[in-house]
Amino acid sequence: MDYFKFQAPTQIVFGKNTEEQTGQLCKKYGAHKVLVHFGGGSAVKSGLLDRICASLQQAGLDYVLLGGVVPNPLLSKVREGVELCRKENVDFILAVGGGSVIDSAKAIGYGLTNPGDVWDYYLRKKEIAACAPLGTVLTIAAAGSEMSNSSVITNEDGLLKRGLNTDYCYCKFAVLNPQLTYTLPAYQTASGCTDIMVHTLERYFTTPKAQALHLTDSIAEALLRGVMRNAKIALKNPEDYDARAEIMWSGTLSHNGTTGDRDFGDWSCHQLEHELSGVFGVAHGAGLAAIWGSWARYVCRENIARFAQLAVNVFGLPYNYRDPEATALEGIAAMESFFRHIGMPTDIHTLIGAELTEAQIEELAYKCSFMGTRTIGQFKVLNQQDMAAIYRMAK
Ligand code: NZQ
Ligand code: ZN
Repeated sequence: MDYFKFQAPTQIVFGKNTEEQTGQLCKKYGAHKVLVHFGGGSAVKSGLLDRICASLQQAGLDYVLLGGVVPNPLLSKVREGVELCRKENVDFILAVGGGSVIDSAKAIGYGLTNPGDVWDYYLRKKEIAACAPLGTVLTIAAAGSEMSNSSVITNEDGLLKRGLNTDYCYCKFAVLNPQLTYTLPAYQTASGCTDIMVHTLERYFTTPKAQALHLTDSIAEALLRGVMRNAKIALKNPEDYDARAEIMWSGTLSHNGTTGDRDFGDWSCHQLEHELSGVFGVAHGAGLAAIWGSWARYVCRENIARFAQLAVNVFGLPYNYRDPEATALEGIAAMESFFRHIGMPTDIHTLIGAELTEAQIEELAYKCSFMGTRTIGQFKVLNQQDMAAIYRMAK
């Protein structure tokens, strides 16, 4: 096993009705005045927000509300949050929602504790040195932000979506009640399951020469098989507690480092997708489904054995000893077939309802390469031309 670091400082409180503990948890982690941050209305409609406020009151905590976070959260809302927190002397941020709300909360936490404009940190012009304490009540199993060190924000000015990873933004606690995900629309359930799977896939495909690691590979493959099985159950019966619970815990483990023990991963699909959701506002998981198969076909010859292992161990396909590449390609097709089965697009045309023009492809590749200044990926290092080629294949 190569050198790696693993850090998982978030307290998980998992199970039915666990949101009732939110007030006590905020208090435990030092809150006096809480910003309750939420999205476009699902938490209001379900009554969750009222229950959270009651729990904060019971714990004797003061709070202020800030809703309106949109999927692919916006910088303008982050700036509004920073201002509000300063005015109200907020000392703890509680995200009630999914990846978008949590990432917006993390960005507000950065803005409160670091000098200047918060966007400069996402552009790597300055380095983050702190973050205000955060907690979350998760309502969608998907992004894994509840236990990750990432925050992804879109600047409306130029539609630039940028991620920032630091050790400062881990949530102090995450309340995971699978019942809270019963109200998810089918598309969001499917998109979330796709994102969960791709977080593990990004770590499964590292450098082409990386050794297969039995323990880590087995965890990753079991997670992939489990999410596929439970996604189908939850889509048929949205109130199946066990399926929702398996998906929710998989979502957290998939992005906290458990499914990859190397300190890196490929992450090309995420980088390629962030440009799609930044520009077209699509659901992140759906964007990943639209790009993954094209990426996989573009890079698989770097290590056919790895893709063949995925085909055999995750989809139970027979290994073709005479033609391992055929096994690898069947595995990629099986993954796409699963995505389609749960209602996800496997091309950009289906994702956005139109074919990308050549000018759009070039623009996406330009942005994804940070205006021609970076490559992405590890399994196969991709330059701007490679990025454009993959968008073209997926269009
Ligand atoms: O805004 P509301 O009304 O709450 O509706 C949301 C939103 O429309 C809805 N929803 C959430 N919980 C619900 C619900 N609807 C009914 N019942 C519930 N219980 O679902 C929609 C999507 O929510 P969102 O928070 O956007 O979903 P997700 O968790 O997929 O987050 C996506 C964002 O996370 C980023 C993505 O790029 C995207 O911006 N990511 C963050 C990562 C991280 N911080 O570690 C890693 C990921 O790879 C990803 O990039
Ligand atoms: Zn993701």
